[in-house]
Amino acid sequence: MQAYLLDFANLLLRWLHVIAAVAWIGESIYFVMLDNGLRPPKADEDKKKGVFGEMWAVHGGGFYHNQKYASAPAKLPADLHWSFWKAYTTWLSGFGLFVLLYMTNPGFYLVNPGSDWAWAAELTGWQANAVALLFLLSGWVVYNELCKRISPNMERDGILSLAVAVMMVVVAYLSTQIFAGRAAFLLTGAVMATAMSANVFFWIIPGQRRMVKAMKAGETPNPIDGKRGKQRSVHNTYFTLPVVLLMLSNHYSFTYTHELSWVIMALFIFAGALIRQFFVLMHAGSIQPAYPAAGVALILVAIWVGAPTGNDNVAAAHSVSSSVNDEERVLAASSSLSEVHEIIEQRCVSCHAQAPEHAGFAAAPAGVILETEEQLLRQIDQVRQVVASGYMPLGNITQMTDAERAEVAAWTP
Ligand code: HEC
Repeated sequence: MQAYLLDFANLLLRWLHVIAAVAWIGESIYFVMLDNGLRPPKADEDKKKGVFGEMWAVHGGGFYHNQKYASAPAKLPADLHWSFWKAYTTWLSGFGLFVLLYMTNPGFYLVNPGSDWAWAAELTGWQANAVALLFLLSGWVVYNELCKRISPNMERDGILSLAVAVMMVVVAYLSTQIFAGRAAFLLTGAVMATAMSANVFFWIIPGQRRMVKAMKAGETPNPIDGKRGKQRSVHNTYFTLPVVLLMLSNHYSFTYTHELSWVIMALFIFAGALIRQFFVLMHAGSIQPAYPAAGVALILVAIWVGAPTGNDNVAAAHSVSSSVNDEERVLAASSSLSEVHEIIEQRCVSCHAQAPEHAGFAAAPAGVILETEEQLLRQIDQVRQVVASGYMPLGNITQMTDAERAEVAAWTP
């Protein structure tokens, strides 16, 4: 019952998270479109009022006339619309999901017993939780320091972008070394998503508050607040597409169980940013297909890097120790279905059953049920992939041996 209620909480929290993210990203994309699509005002009275750009739009059966002021309107309206709850709700619900899903079960989901780094391979569940929180926090601190040190007055934003790009490759690499693959993708996405929300919380909104306060006091707002808000919101724009891709790829184990998963992640991040760049420029009236073409090229490279390497090599994938020799592999290839299913029954079915015996599971995880030979046969490709990559059994909790792993990985119907 408890596991069932937790699963339900998970579903509802995920619903909230996705809806909040859709609203936030939608609004942020809208404002980039608006900002880049502004044209000089036509009417003289608008120019006199200090309007610097305008956009006419038709939507939902109505006509809209947006105007942006060069600095600020002469008089601030009382009912100024602010946007921040969408950003905060997205982060809070995402963090809640991480706690509910990963931090309550770090032994399955966070630790990476196959890590090349001995200290990481030996982390206990609670240590892994602490390291994950530290990872998120350090991601923000390093990103924020890069912004403050490299381009404090927005004078070197180009170099800053490069530095942030390099930082993200490092984050991708570190996360895959320290954490289990799925958690690594999630945490790399979460480092970007945390930077996005923290940009809103620590810089964009406080800057806007200072501007409004100055204006109410009849003073000229400090232009640095506006410029910095813009700098951080530009970063947020380029983070959006990669973050969504990383969060989604969490459901596709071929991405995060690969030996070079950090390269795949880095390629996704750059592809997303390049594709976003196309839309940013398009809203400003410039169509440059080279950007999405480059993005698609990077995704093709990711497909190539991540491609399965064929039966023989699957069994030799990184987590299968080299103690399994060729002879054993030949033997494995000749096992019968019932022999393979026996291994599955022993190592997998405590979780992958209609009614799992394993504590903490209310239903078959990922909908994968492997109780009968027929069920196994139907899902054999997926089973071979997750076994060869070492992803399953989760945290090798059921202590599958290397020989069994090789046998399942090499078996063909
Ligand atoms: C401790 C419980 C547990 C054991 C034991 C276990 N699994 Fe899983 N399995 C899970 C969970 C949880 C998920 C869902 C994780 C996810 O969403 O990626 C999963 C997901 C899967 C998936 C779907 C992966 C995907 O890409 O969505 C397959 C296939 C799978 N397991 C096969 C196996 C096989 C084969 C074994 C035995 C060698 C096994 N599992 C052992 C818990 C377990």
